[in-house]
Amino acid sequence: MIIAKRIVAFVVAGFALGTLSPLTALADDAENGEILAYTCLGCHGIDGYRNAYPSYRVPKLGGQKTGYLEIALKAYRSGDRDHPTMQAQGGSLTDQDIADLAAYFQGEEAALDYVTNDMIAGIDAARACLACHGGGVTGLSPTPPTLSGQEESYIQQALNQYKSGQRKNNIMTAFAAALTEADIAAIAKLWSEQDGLYTPQEPD
Ligand code: HEC
Ligand code: HEC
Repeated sequence: MIIAKRIVAFVVAGFALGTLSPLTALADDAENGEILAYTCLGCHGIDGYRNAYPSYRVPKLGGQKTGYLEIALKAYRSGDRDHPTMQAQGGSLTDQDIADLAAYFQGEEAALDYVTNDMIAGIDAARACLACHGGGVTGLSPTPPTLSGQEESYIQQALNQYKSGQRKNNIMTAFAAALTEADIAAIAKLWSEQDGLYTPQEPD
């Protein structure tokens, strides 16, 4: 069944892309990633699609950094990051599949509007976030995800999960612990209003 779907997706992708460039055949292969992403787009390719319980929008993946996408998928695969559906989705992926999917979802260089110091007047708690989520810093390890344009309800869900300890991360646990409910709401609103991440479209 999955194989059949992949063949269909491959044919569709082949029509959409025309001739394949031999240069992209090696290394991380966004075209192969698009084929692998067929099932993913059933949720991540639909604008406003929601996780049921609790209700929040599925994260946007388009334009996200490859380094972070790989960390996230490996964390679901290993079970370090808790979410039954995503653990099932990630469970059978190889490292190469993950690299290809990350290359596909990152896509072309996206236009990003980063949150800056003068935008966070009144949300003092957000000042600490800029070093990693403001945009200027690259090459940090582990890679901080891009938040600009992310779904508001997903940012809230993620911060609440770090705060409660359900989602574990040495860096974010400490930062989230310092946030009040009002801080979380204001931060989620501010970052979600910026241009940046997008919903990748399902191939026709
Ligand atoms: C049934 C719906 C569904 C499908 C299918 C699905 N996902 Fe997800 N995905 C979600 C939800 C819901 C979350 C948020 C989970 C959480 O809160 O940790 C998520 C989270 C993610 C994240 C983490 C994003 C972030 O910002 O941390 C990545 C990466 C991801 N999915 C990739 C994929 C890939 C790749 C596939 C296909 C192999 C896939 N997903 C299939 C629903 C889905
Ligand atoms: C020192 C760097 C650093 C700082 C400062 C920082 N973060 Fe993070 N942030 C990260 C990293 C790394 C991750 C990925 C962690 C993981 O894999 O779960 C992350 C993840 C997140 C996520 C989850 C995004 C997703 O796609 O799932 C949110 C939301 C977030 N940070 C918000 C904030 C906020 C709000 C602040 C300030 C209060 C902040 N961060 C401060 C590095 C940082």
